[in-house]
Amino acid sequence: MKIIIINGPNLNLLGKREPEIYGSATFEDYFKQLQISFKEVELSYFQSNIEGELINKLHEVGFSYDGIILNAAAYTHTSVGLGDAIKSIDTPVVEVHISNIHAREAFRQHSYISPNASGVLFGFGLKGYDLAVHSFL
Ligand code: DQA
Repeated sequence: MKIIIINGPNLNLLGKREPEIYGSATFEDYFKQLQISFKEVELSYFQSNIEGELINKLHEVGFSYDGIILNAAAYTHTSVGLGDAIKSIDTPVVEVHISNIHAREAFRQHSYISPNASGVLFGFGLKGYDLAVHSFL
């Protein structure tokens, strides 16, 4: 089974960025643990701060992978293009957010990803990515 995690803008700074919201672990360290926990899964990881690169990656993997776990970060709330990209591909997408976006600012409560996602997980910290992998198994 091939699953990719795609992270959007500023998530390369996990560990340093607003640790009171996003925790103190880097995504690279967390990803190593995830690979150990799910040895049977071919797991890969892509991060970009650039909207078009995220769309290109969805097109690249979206007809051959078994699952996509997408944390589009701030683009969740702004990107019609990412929402359309999810509609355009075959691979199911699970939307993940580290924080509880519904307990934060009002602008975070709208997602262009959710209507096109097969499931949504938020508020579980990095554990949300574990749960998303489980959801595909
Ligand atoms: C986030 C929530 C978004 O609102 C925010 O812009 C992020 C991270 C999360 O994982 O909690 O960058 O997607």
